[in-house]
Amino acid sequence: MKIDPSTLDRKTAHDLMVGTALPRPIAFVSTAGANGIYNLAPFSFFIPLSASPAIVGVGIGRKRDGEKKDTLVNIELTGDFVINVVTESLAEAMNQTAGEYPPEVDEFQVAKLSPLKADLVKSPMVAESPIQMECRLLQILEYGEFPRINNFVIGEVIRVHVRDEFWVNGEVQSTKLKAIGRMGGDLYCRTTDIFEMKRPVIR
Ligand SMILES: Cc1cc2nc3c(=O)[nH]c(=O)nc-3n(C[C@H](O)[C@H](O)[C@H](O)COP(=O)(O)O)c2cc1C
Repeated sequence: MKIDPSTLDRKTAHDLMVGTALPRPIAFVSTAGANGIYNLAPFSFFIPLSASPAIVGVGIGRKRDGEKKDTLVNIELTGDFVINVVTESLAEAMNQTAGEYPPEVDEFQVAKLSPLKADLVKSPMVAESPIQMECRLLQILEYGEFPRINNFVIGEVIRVHVRDEFWVNGEVQSTKLKAIGRMGGDLYCRTTDIFEMKRPVIR
């Protein structure tokens, strides 16, 4: 089968991409709105772009009617956001926040999660997440034509909070975090089936 993604309807194009680029980490993005209302939503079009400087990118699509999602509106407003790591114990709560709620709904309350004040940004952090990254907006790119528009939000990580038990000898205990990833459709994966490979040493 040969497929030209630009000829596909929105859902099929989405299914093709999420079923192909996997597994994907999930950025649980918390932001603050104009009236101080908190917002929380998961995004798996998420990628670390560089470690030093610490740069991350999040791809945010549009609502069904083509309007901006609350997360994007808030990031444009405040110029910051927080990325919270999603673990197995947070999976159900994360999924609850993915509904298309109106801007006045605080998804922290929907999912019964606790907002925690960040050190350097206006956006709140998810207290229950073992790692939170405070990000300052650098750039927003835009692709596509209404209503099929996607914005790629690029941010600099300016502070990382790691729960003490997961930070040992200057390293994140990634195998103990029980982070989850997103596959195609409504499928997820665990990070408990891990193997090691040493790179070739060329002398
Ligand atoms: C695991 C998961 C990953 C998601 N990834 C994305 C994504 O990368 N980009 C996107 O636009 N929407 C994504 N969504 C859908 C958004 O979470 C959903 O549209 C949400 O309502 C946006 O909320 P907001 O309007 O409060 O920003 C994802 C949903 C789930 C459950």
